Amino acid sequence: PSVLILNGPNLNMLGTRQPEVYGRETLADIETLCHAHAAALGLRVDFRQSNHEGELVTWIQQARLEQRAIIINAAAYTHTSVAILDALLAVALPTVEVHLSNIHQRDAFRHHSYVSKAAKGMICGFGSHGYILALDAVARLLAV
Ligand code: DQA
Repeated sequence: PSVLILNGPNLNMLGTRQPEVYGRETLADIETLCHAHAAALGLRVDFRQSNHEGELVTWIQQARLEQRAIIINAAAYTHTSVAILDALLAVALPTVEVHLSNIHQRDAFRHHSYVSKAAKGMICGFGSHGYILALDAVARLLAV
């Protein structure tokens, strides 16, 4: 069983998307970092991105049978999606929320997260290193 790392809309554009906010690394670079760090922790990761809310919901539902924990950067859906929250509550796997940027320094509409209601904790503001911190948190939660 692996750890599901889910990335929401527009994160496929990392590298060129508002680099002053999100940095110059691509999502493929972040995936490479995650695989390397997970291996060092004795974990496997299943790293995915979708621009579609329903696809993210379906992947969360499937994780109930296939995965041990979820790391999620729901991107803009963080602030809008009751459906993603409900899916996370339904599967009840250990969940860590990640954001590259510090959402509390930004627009007021980014300060609220539906995902946080289902997460053990949230890491934001550390760029791609947040995914590494999230993997460390998951390893601790799973006590591997
Ligand atoms: C984000 C923050 C969200 O507010 C934004 O909509 C994103 C990315 C982050 O990683 O900083 O797309 O989740």
